[in-house]
Amino acid sequence: IARAAIFDLDGVLVDTAVHHFAAWRAMAQGLGFTLADEDEELLKGVGRMDALRIVLGLGGVEVSDEEALRLAAEKNAQYVKAISMLTPDDMLPGALELLRDLRSRGVPTALGSASRNAPLILDRLGIRDLLDVIIDGSVVSQAKPDPAVFRAGAEALGVAAEDCVVFEDAIAGVEAAHRAGMTAVGVGDATVLGEADVVIPGLHAAGSLADHGITFEGSP
Ligand code: BG6
Ligand code: MG
Repeated sequence: IARAAIFDLDGVLVDTAVHHFAAWRAMAQGLGFTLADEDEELLKGVGRMDALRIVLGLGGVEVSDEEALRLAAEKNAQYVKAISMLTPDDMLPGALELLRDLRSRGVPTALGSASRNAPLILDRLGIRDLLDVIIDGSVVSQAKPDPAVFRAGAEALGVAAEDCVVFEDAIAGVEAAHRAGMTAVGVGDATVLGEADVVIPGLHAAGSLADHGITFEGSP
């Protein structure tokens, strides 16, 4: 029986992965190469500068540190433009319901995201108050698969790592959860997230977790 839930943001609570990838694709195009659909998985969960290095590596492009910072800023500007238009309707199916259910049962929740844009997204969605603790890319700089983001979340909630369940759509995030000593629920494609303890297609299917022995106990 778990005592706390930690949520990744992009691709778990909200459908922003598509905007991240569109912005990376535009950047690559500008540099003269094309990203393939399957490249997207490599970029999920990974911090901004690490993702940039991966993209440049895929294109075989070498740039100075200064140019790398400029490219990352340019990519982020396009991404911010896209997420500035998010509305509560952009939450993924079941996300709001699960957050509300956990809150009503007294189960503590944390956000564990690599994104520095998390505050903007949470405001656009209006769900800041449904998360007890917010750990994002401005709080923790070590990117997933480093477990620091999730460890910080558990610590701030005052819950032991083994009592935390992490919801993740990224391979790097599942690895980070395991390295933190937590249960990892993969959200998305089971063939991609095979390392997770359980995979559900989306948070709308969170009810089926009980069949896999994952339940939450709150203190109402
Ligand atoms: C993660 C995304 O949540 O945040 C990654 O899955 C992204 O794709 C990372 O690179 C960093 O986000 P941002 O918004 O700080 O560039
Ligand atoms: Mg994600």
